[in-house]
Amino acid sequence: GLLVPALTGPSAAAATDPAPTTAPVIPQFAVPMTVPPVLAPSSSSTTTDYYTVTMKKALKEIVPGTLTEVWTYNGQYPGPTIKARSGRRVVIKQINNLDMPTSVHLHGAKVPVDSDGSPMDTIAPGAARTYTYPNDQAAAPLWFHDHAHHMESEHVYRGLSATYQLSDDAERSLPLPSGSYDVPLILRDGRFDEAGRLIYEMEDFLNRNTILVNGRPWPYFQVAARKYRFRILNSTNNRFFNLQLADGTSFVQIGSDGGLLEKPYSTTSVWLSPGERADVVLDFSRYAVGTQLVLKNVGLPGPPETNQVMRFDVVRTASDYSSVPDRLRTLPTPPVATVNRSFTLRMDEDGRPGAAAYINDQTYDPNRIDTRITWGSTEVWTVTNANQLAPHNFHLHLVQFRILERNGKAPQPGEAGLKDTVSLLAGETVKLLVTFNSYRGIYLYHCHIFDHGAMGMMGTMEIV
Ligand code: C2O
Ligand code: CU
Ligand code: CU
Repeated sequence: GLLVPALTGPSAAAATDPAPTTAPVIPQFAVPMTVPPVLAPSSSSTTTDYYTVTMKKALKEIVPGTLTEVWTYNGQYPGPTIKARSGRRVVIKQINNLDMPTSVHLHGAKVPVDSDGSPMDTIAPGAARTYTYPNDQAAAPLWFHDHAHHMESEHVYRGLSATYQLSDDAERSLPLPSGSYDVPLILRDGRFDEAGRLIYEMEDFLNRNTILVNGRPWPYFQVAARKYRFRILNSTNNRFFNLQLADGTSFVQIGSDGGLLEKPYSTTSVWLSPGERADVVLDFSRYAVGTQLVLKNVGLPGPPETNQVMRFDVVRTASDYSSVPDRLRTLPTPPVATVNRSFTLRMDEDGRPGAAAYINDQTYDPNRIDTRITWGSTEVWTVTNANQLAPHNFHLHLVQFRILERNGKAPQPGEAGLKDTVSLLAGETVKLLVTFNSYRGIYLYHCHIFDHGAMGMMGTMEIV
């Protein structure tokens, strides 16, 4: 059973108020879905692709007839897709033309600490900074987003996120749907006023009643009656999705945060907490041309409008030479763990102003090292959500981990691959297997409900 999320945090009072009478009505399934453009490198060498990205405000039509100010990478909402290859370096010059400090974090990536986009390591308004990504890891659906201390929640909500598709030869050699049949679905939500302005308040998920896919409200997507690969990202800061097809039929999950699963997994639903990704193959060949199929959300309760995500309209037939192989990948056997640690996530659930959120009873202090790790070690991290109501999740920078157990049982196949973010409903416990054998330095772990991170649910680890 799903639990009702707690109404907590500084703006709990605001979140309990009835929805404002000024909320505009945005029709569902009325606009076509678009796909973010792929960014071309500004130059390339034999080893490296160089990009330039400008963070700036832009106006987009989301509420019909009005323009919404959004914060963007390169004027795109969501940001442009960067396509990278394992073993080939990417260098991105990020220019901050916003009037707030920003920090760009490549989520899921193994990166040296000076390019990790940590909360205190910000780019001042008008300044620029160059991030270097070695891409020394296997294919994975990475994404980048703002991480400026105490501001990431609002910045990401206003639009500062984008996908970064890291591929490799092994993945490319598979006969999976490709080209225009390989499509990102970047989920976010928003609360708009009648003038089309995005309203931001902390912990306001009960009023964020508009679901956006690739920046468009409840779009429709015209598909051919064949297989598609969808790379789904939950880029909301506070919404847990459980995606299902309206007819209850199954689809195939082929990947998660850290890339492909070992074997495809046929399922009727996929659960995504904020920051998590799922790679799925959906076969529309079982539908007649003319079929309309809604993608539903039956995740944690929210406004009723958020129970719909988008609609697939089957409009034509097409040939299909793609297939999903029985074996997608062989994951390396992880070393044996020699260190055990426990992390307890808890937040004040009374909703009083000044409510805080803790890991092991401490709120985030960027000047404190919470966890000291010996380089090369493999550890078991037991993470518990000690709240009665509030959901959390847990994300580590720098590493991809394995989930050994969820509530004492083996994980479901959809989360048995490499992960960097794990969902934790109230009362849940997971055991993670993590190896720290890449870069040294100070990195973060935190709840990826950005509001909770801003309330203190974030810690530091130093790998030495
Ligand atoms: Cu996407 Cu520190 O996170
Ligand atoms: Cu991250
Ligand atoms: Cu949390």
